[in-house]
Amino acid sequence: MDYLMFQLEKNAKTPLYEQLYNEIKEAIIDGTIEEGAKLPSKRKLAEFLAVSQTTIEFAYSQLVAEGFISSEARKGFFVQNLEDLALIEQESTHMTREGNETEDIFIDFSPGKIDTESFPFAIWRKYMKEIISEANKDFLQLGHPQGDFELRQQISSYLYQSRGVKCTPEQIILGSGTEQLMPLIIRLLGKEAIYGIENPGYPLTHHLFLEDKHKSIPIPVDIEGVIVSQLEQTNATVMYVTPSHQFPTGAVLSATRRSQLLSWAYQQENRYIIEDDYDSEFRYTGRPIPSLQGIDQNQRVIYLSTFSKSLMPSLRIAYAVLPKTLIMQYMQKYSYYAATVPRMDQHVLTKFMESGHFAKHLNKMRKIYKRKLEIVTKTIAEFNPIVTISGEQAGMHILLTIHTCKTEEELVLLSKQAGIRIYALQEYITGDFENASTPKIVLGFGGIDTNDISASINTLIKVWEIRKTP
Ligand SMILES: Cc1ncc(COP(=O)(O)O)c(C=O)c1O
Repeated sequence: MDYLMFQLEKNAKTPLYEQLYNEIKEAIIDGTIEEGAKLPSKRKLAEFLAVSQTTIEFAYSQLVAEGFISSEARKGFFVQNLEDLALIEQESTHMTREGNETEDIFIDFSPGKIDTESFPFAIWRKYMKEIISEANKDFLQLGHPQGDFELRQQISSYLYQSRGVKCTPEQIILGSGTEQLMPLIIRLLGKEAIYGIENPGYPLTHHLFLEDKHKSIPIPVDIEGVIVSQLEQTNATVMYVTPSHQFPTGAVLSATRRSQLLSWAYQQENRYIIEDDYDSEFRYTGRPIPSLQGIDQNQRVIYLSTFSKSLMPSLRIAYAVLPKTLIMQYMQKYSYYAATVPRMDQHVLTKFMESGHFAKHLNKMRKIYKRKLEIVTKTIAEFNPIVTISGEQAGMHILLTIHTCKTEEELVLLSKQAGIRIYALQEYITGDFENASTPKIVLGFGGIDTNDISASINTLIKVWEIRKTP
């Protein structure tokens, strides 16, 4: 293949990976690159174009996600048959997945990482051992399609106490992650639904709406969360939000915007809000913010949350609380679906919650993450006003604003060359949202050891060639 055909403009406003994605996509559509052709390896193409492998990786992942190319393990990337491909007309999203890189990473600031040092292995092991016994033969059979009742009961009382969510266990559906529940909700809401999505926002939901060819409208986010007045000007019928800790900016949806959003939903019969409360367990300042579901008077909020942050992402257990009308429809349409969470895992989690260990674990983790965040804030304060922090009221990630002449891409590249994984805010932006020219970096601190945080941040900022403020 002639690599020379890819013309990348290094000083252009469009990120390099997006330029490359567009170049390859166009070459596939106009037949310059034929069906079945093998694309150059990421390393080779990166060397040839003198760009980072991440740039190539982002471009290839987007092409794979949209079905233009396929990735075959240990063989490479191959151009797909275009006739099989219904071209996606919406604009491309700029996003990446965490943890799919193979090169050496010494410091990992991925927002999806948790603290693994404090996991209560002994208790978890005890419950696991107990369940694997002939006395529990029943667990070999399929359980309730929405998940075992006992676990749903635990979740409903936990949600009421901690988040003010009002629901019965019958309204809960368990699933193996938010990413498994979202497509189910999308199917339930039907083809007519038009989705408002936060911009910047959670890459997974952006991907889902695009892949499912559902109409989605990016709605900008500012320091008060999603700008509801902009949503009101669209024909969206369902708004996906992360109100407690907007992903990735960390903004908390203000009280005014909360009531504005609920009023928007009440104005028409078919309007819903999908509230993704993914990391609400970890709020460090001020009073806890009640869930939107808890203050909704008209059954318009679909509440989603996960154990990925509170326990571990590999557990793959999340849940949706559906409004009564939707749960009825769900039971009619999808009751033949088997639960996607292994019953033994459900049982271990039930025991963990029932015995009070979950509440204890959350208290412990809240203190640990709070301590980590304090160190992050203190370390970054030494670089103020060149580097500033926002979104630090909750969760395990923050947003850094860097007043430098370097671009986000350059900062990511410099970090990567030093074995440090960080994410540029632009990775989470979709469509033509005008990102401020000042670079912003999403920094997850959950997975970094408390004792290493200060040194890790100092190393990172040094790599960016920024010095402490005297
Ligand atoms: C906004 C948001 N929602 C949900 C999740 C969790 O997704 P899952 O339940 O599929 O692990 C995350 C990731 O950590 C997230 O950032």
